[in-house]
Amino acid sequence: MSILTRQRADHERLDRLMARARETLDSPDEREHARALRALARLVFTHAFAEEAVLFPAARRVLPEGDPLTLRIESDHQEVDDVVSDLDGSARSEPGHVELMERAFAVLDHDVRTEEDELLARLQQLMSPRRLRLLGWTWELVRRISPTRPHPVVSRRPPGQTLSALPLTVLDRGRDNLQRLDELTGHRFGSRLAPLDRALAAAAGAVERWPVMRRGERAQTSRP
Ligand SMILES: [Fe+2]
Ligand SMILES: [Fe+2]
Repeated sequence: MSILTRQRADHERLDRLMARARETLDSPDEREHARALRALARLVFTHAFAEEAVLFPAARRVLPEGDPLTLRIESDHQEVDDVVSDLDGSARSEPGHVELMERAFAVLDHDVRTEEDELLARLQQLMSPRRLRLLGWTWELVRRISPTRPHPVVSRRPPGQTLSALPLTVLDRGRDNLQRLDELTGHRFGSRLAPLDRALAAAAGAVERWPVMRRGERAQTSRP
């Protein structure tokens, strides 16, 4: 499958998960909404990380307008990171929760349109079907080993983005496993797992702030 087919399939999944997150705003069990948001975040952040690692560098090599075009999309990704970081862990009844969620969804819609209508359309004109398939395969591979959570401080471009992949993936997926364990055990050990989760989150925050992880960042997507 080419990068075009894989991206479209993921974008459609994204639409379904956003609809699910909206539906669960009224469900009797609050945890359903939290689960829907986590599934959505996992898709969004692995998808975007692999774009920044594989797809955008390829677009910058092939398209004369690749640099400003990918920078516009990276700015959308940055805003999603910022908004979801604010949203993270907030209950649906908290003030501002729905507004933050809708803001993230609006930016995600915009991101998808720019990618499908501009970036991928241009790549289809300039790359052979074989190269589009190879790009799709590489993107898929990187997506499966990408960080799963927002990291607004780390660089959106290599080399910082590439260097951050391994430590952030290990820490994010460690937190995902703790969450799964908590669900599987009926939330019986929640209070014991919470400090470990906080320690992993703090470690990820520290990794993000290493100066080497911020190398390659553009001013437009940089965060203090
Ligand atoms: Fe995409
Ligand atoms: Fe994207």
